[in-house]
Amino acid sequence: MSVFINEKVITLHTKNTTYQMAVNENDYLAHLYYGARLDDSVALTRGKVGYHTLLPLAYDGKNRELSPAVCPLEYSAYGCGDFRTTPLKVRFADGSSVCDLRFESAKAVENKPTLRGLPALHDQNAKSQSVEVCLKDKVHNLRVYLLYTAFEECDVIAKSVRIENNTGGTVVLESVLSTALDNYESDYDYISFVGKPHFERTFSRVALEDVKLVTESRRGSSSHQANPFVIFCEKNATETMGECFGSAFVYSGNFTASFEKTPIGTSRFVMGINPENFAFTLENGESFQAPEVIHTYSNQGLGQLTHNYHNVIRKHLFRGKYANADRPILINNWEATYFNFNAEKLLAIAKEAQKIGADTFVLDDGWFKGRNGDGSSLGDWFVDEEKLGCKLNELIKNINALGMKFGLWFEPECISENSDLYRAHPEWVISAPGRTGMLGRKQWVLDMSNKAVVDAVFGMMSNILDNNNIEYVKWDFNRYLTDVYSTALSANQQGEVMHRYVLGVYDLLERINTRYPNILIEGCASGGGRFDCGMLYYSPQYWASDSTDPMNRLNIQYGTSFCYPVISVGAHVTASPNHVTRRVTSIKTRSNVAMAGTYGFELDLTTLTEDEIAELANETKFYKSHRELIRTGDYYRLTGNTERYMAWQFVAEDKKSALAVMVQRISHIDYKPHILKLRGLDKNTSYRIAIDGVELEGVFTGTALMQIGVPVRTIKYEGDSTRIEITAI
Ligand code: GLA
Repeated sequence: MSVFINEKVITLHTKNTTYQMAVNENDYLAHLYYGARLDDSVALTRGKVGYHTLLPLAYDGKNRELSPAVCPLEYSAYGCGDFRTTPLKVRFADGSSVCDLRFESAKAVENKPTLRGLPALHDQNAKSQSVEVCLKDKVHNLRVYLLYTAFEECDVIAKSVRIENNTGGTVVLESVLSTALDNYESDYDYISFVGKPHFERTFSRVALEDVKLVTESRRGSSSHQANPFVIFCEKNATETMGECFGSAFVYSGNFTASFEKTPIGTSRFVMGINPENFAFTLENGESFQAPEVIHTYSNQGLGQLTHNYHNVIRKHLFRGKYANADRPILINNWEATYFNFNAEKLLAIAKEAQKIGADTFVLDDGWFKGRNGDGSSLGDWFVDEEKLGCKLNELIKNINALGMKFGLWFEPECISENSDLYRAHPEWVISAPGRTGMLGRKQWVLDMSNKAVVDAVFGMMSNILDNNNIEYVKWDFNRYLTDVYSTALSANQQGEVMHRYVLGVYDLLERINTRYPNILIEGCASGGGRFDCGMLYYSPQYWASDSTDPMNRLNIQYGTSFCYPVISVGAHVTASPNHVTRRVTSIKTRSNVAMAGTYGFELDLTTLTEDEIAELANETKFYKSHRELIRTGDYYRLTGNTERYMAWQFVAEDKKSALAVMVQRISHIDYKPHILKLRGLDKNTSYRIAIDGVELEGVFTGTALMQIGVPVRTIKYEGDSTRIEITAI
């Protein structure tokens, strides 16, 4: 049992954590506890909730001792004395925005309910338990349902919110955040993952001061600039020790996450859809489902927090054929040819790719009607046979004859002005009346909030996917939303467009997934501009960045690793000098970095020497012999991202094998060997060690490898890398 409703105390347990709330004497749903697991004897006997005797800044008339401004609350609404960031703001039909949420009921729910139209954690084994709590504003009869699910094995609590309008009139939701997490403490660091194109998810750690810290996107997608995943942790928390709280939003549009210290020294964290330009009208009888937040807690540092996220995403967010299977090893033609290709050139690359062990050829941008640059044709998803020099089917047949699968690039949500689709349907573009709209990468965004648009794009994509043997789709999105307005919605619904856009994208993704269960979708947004748990529900891997330089990727993949499993991180071996940075790196280092991701290739293999082809073939062989460990193992960051070298490690679930990789970031010429302390091994097991394929003499216990470490002498210069295989005897 992981959920207990004991009179007015509600407790959710996971293997190592407990989440607890209680109804207090004024019927507020107070947050009691989130932290290390409590014994049932402690947890279930807590009844009285006496912890709000401070400063009655506002009180409800009955109890001068009680102030909603200082009481830790599970959820609250604007207007009734909670002066922190309130997750809910409602405008009622009478114009008032005062809403007072008090406890009405709670019930246990078996398993994990789905969330209408939204991605969310699932539980096919039906082992999880949920609780639904109803809060109510008595004056207007507005109900708020809080759903909590305990994923016991992963130490995760999923939270979401549904609003039901039974007020008898129309209400406008001006803010519906998905979670609030109050805490008695505020002496925390705040970790977020910020960036820009080519520098996605850069680790940032700051101390919480007396200001509110906000991470947000207002760009229509979760964006390159901010990721909907944040952590707050004790100031001395490291990879291996300290309390940490993580929150990942299962949503791909505008979001906000904020962390504030209150004047009395407590703190509140909230996360949800960004209220900016959000106003959702609910008629009487209608409801609104807000997306889910995945919370985890670890008192063993950031490393354990990462294990929890990797586990829950791999087991309860990924779906379909590839959720639990090896991913294809791709050769993608983008950095090999850009727009300049025909079938003959593509086939020549595929032939070399087959020699090095790739199993799927991906035809990137430029295959459709008149698309020879980025200025035209988006929206016209018809094969350009003239450019290819043959039918798409023929090319695929030839690729399949090499024993390889075939994949295709789409950018379903965008449209070029120079396209037949735009000429036929200018009203399908997101743009405000009387304005031309901003271009981004010379293109506009289609109005995915309009079902007619989603139907039309689905029709065009299906026409290609039904008639060709396509087993992989790269789903790109190369812009942000501006000039937001939909011709399909009324004037008073324009505040819904940003959210309805995301729902439209999810609808299209769901339809493609349902109709083509054998197709693997890889997400992409000018690199990793929409890498979030929402997209990973539909596409279990995501192109991490258009920066394909392995040295730049170190930082990007480091930041990404805190939440997202290695197998979701799209990463390829590309050309040297790198096309983005001109940096020269070895095949070995390029491979080592790509193996901390999905591993694949994106370069013109026809220009490589025989030796280079042979080396790549060997790298693929190495990858294949470790791919299960990399996909399913626990991932450890052995260093930060500012040391002279960066190192990481994969450890198999049974701890019988592990692989560590080190990459030198900055050259250093001294005579001291690097000592790499490993993690996650079994203390008493004896292991053999091989460094870059050369076995060390003797055997080493897990304790020795973790406490003394492995001396690594061969790595000195920027861009050098080495790998250490650890095998139990
Ligand atoms: C984006 C993607 C690239 C490539 C190009 C094609 O930039 O991130 O990988 O697909 O689009 O135009």
